[in-house]
Amino acid sequence: MKSFIGWIGGKRALRKDILTAFPSEYSRYIEVFGGAGWVLFGKQPTGQMEVFNDADGSLINIYRCIKYHPDALAAELSGLPHSREMFLDCQNQFEQRGYTDIQRAARSLYLIKMGFGSDRRTFATAPKIASNISSSFSDVQDRLRKVIIEHLDFEQLIHIYDRPDALFYCDPPYMGTEHYYRAGFSKQDHERLACVLHGIKGKFLLSYNDCDLARDLYADCIIQPLTRPNLLSGANRNEFKEILIRNYES
Ligand SMILES: C[S@@+](CC[C@H](N)C(=O)[O-])C[C@H]1O[C@@H](n2cnc3c(N)ncnc32)[C@H](O)[C@@H]1O
Repeated sequence: MKSFIGWIGGKRALRKDILTAFPSEYSRYIEVFGGAGWVLFGKQPTGQMEVFNDADGSLINIYRCIKYHPDALAAELSGLPHSREMFLDCQNQFEQRGYTDIQRAARSLYLIKMGFGSDRRTFATAPKIASNISSSFSDVQDRLRKVIIEHLDFEQLIHIYDRPDALFYCDPPYMGTEHYYRAGFSKQDHERLACVLHGIKGKFLLSYNDCDLARDLYADCIIQPLTRPNLLSGANRNEFKEILIRNYES
């Protein structure tokens, strides 16, 4: 199935390549930098333990509200009119005290749905209806039924769930795009991630933009180049180079 939202850096276009690169054997799956969850939603649930995490609390609140209160969230969303003023109000309200989690989740979802490129910052002048998104809640709720939803920094999460039979799929902010994410990410965080992943007992698959620092940090791992059309450059003239990095053979 597809994700219910767009997300900056979302793996919609690459999810099939990513799923194909998964190892043949693992019995717990941990999506460390969840975002819109394109890989989790693209993956068939197989009864194994699945964990979905993101450091962005407003995003994780949406997942929890869809999992536990989909009808209340849909009702709240349907009361938010389509207007630039509402968009700006949501920017002020989605993390404010005095609102319930459901009211905050509706405002966060409104910002994602009505923002240009899901950026939550710029009102998109397109004829969209935010509440249309609630038609996907029932499928999303169903997919998340057995998924453990976490809201942790990657290092703590990886230490908690690391076992020899674990697979961590890691999709951190790409180098140079860190400022797009509310949770932030620094060069030290990229180095910290490399240090953590080099010490785990389980397997990891990591996606990055193809750049020197990523290749240096993981020079001892298997690095698979991938390309996808760079839609921002117009008419697919350029290709965007990405890499998948892993610490297992197959
Ligand atoms: C490239 S996006 C993930 C996109 C996702 N794979 C998808 O398909 O939509 C990176 C995510 O990492 C999250 N993030 C940033 N810093 C983090 C941290 N320290 N620990 C966990 N998640 C973090 C961001 O909030 C963002 O959602």
